[in-house]
Amino acid sequence: MTQLRGLEGKVVLITGAGRGQGANHARGFADAGCDVVALDICKDIPELYDCATGADLALTVEQVEERGRRGLGIECDVRDEDAVEDAVEQAIGAFGRIDVLVNNAGMAALDSIQDMRRTVLDAVIDTNLKGPMLVAKHVVPGMMARRAGNIVNISSAVTGNGNSMLSHYVASKYGVIGLTKAWATELAELGINVNAIAPATIEPGEGHGSGMVRGLAASLGMEPMEAYRMWNEVGNLPGEKWAAQMQDITDACLFLASDNARLVTGHVLYVDGGQATK
Ligand SMILES: NC(=O)c1ccc[n+]([C@@H]2O[C@H](COP(=O)([O-])OP(=O)(O)OC[C@H]3O[C@@H](n4cnc5c(N)ncnc54)[C@H](O)[C@@H]3O)[C@@H](O)[C@H]2O)c1
Repeated sequence: MTQLRGLEGKVVLITGAGRGQGANHARGFADAGCDVVALDICKDIPELYDCATGADLALTVEQVEERGRRGLGIECDVRDEDAVEDAVEQAIGAFGRIDVLVNNAGMAALDSIQDMRRTVLDAVIDTNLKGPMLVAKHVVPGMMARRAGNIVNISSAVTGNGNSMLSHYVASKYGVIGLTKAWATELAELGINVNAIAPATIEPGEGHGSGMVRGLAASLGMEPMEAYRMWNEVGNLPGEKWAAQMQDITDACLFLASDNARLVTGHVLYVDGGQATK
């Protein structure tokens, strides 16, 4: 039987796992036999849509534990290096090591070039681009010492086609691709895989579900599903099949973290229903 190999017993650290895709990845890795350290800011960032709460993060941990695996939730803003260092120390103190890092935390906002809000520009670049760099800085030494490890960075399908009103977000997600290729090169001799996933627009959920489209829709005065359908129409290839769900991204994440992808590194996996072909 073909199956994903090498995930059982791994320790996975996922940022932005208080809700949405990060929480779904946590459930997916737990189902695959992994212990999960779930990081999330658990407080709102000024001028951006809401972030996950402490209760959301606790729910993610509960869902990992319901699957018979160990879970640890740590409130941590990935923009704050001291907090990141402390969180990684706590994770290693609890579980002994980190085998897989999923850099998932990310925020978006709608700003034109000329009206770019200063605090929003900083928050988007610092969370989406500097955040993964700070987390990797503290996670990678343990991987280097063991000469093993796997990093999955979450970029976006907006890098396939550009998008107006999102230049801060698009630039940060192109930056994530740059990090992925540079890290794959730098860490190759140590046997560490580094890849990125570029997801299409994800179906929004309520509460613990994916909040990005929900947040952006609110800033446009639209219903979340109305905005999701609008962006699908603009971005996706024709046909109902190409609408993205969180599980599509979790499946890609599990594959890249597994031994089945042992020869895949420095790659950007577009899980976008082919929209980058447009
Ligand atoms: N939703 C989409 O359509 C879509 C499409 C492509 C890529 N992505 C990317 O997927 C990832 C997950 O998005 P999602 O759809 O689950 O959205 P989401 O808003 O539900 O999840 C993002 C999570 O990150 C957390 N977070 C935000 N800033 C943080 C910080 N500074 N430190 C720590 N945690 C922080 C939030 O609290 C939240 O739990 C993001 O990187 C996003 O850019 C999303």
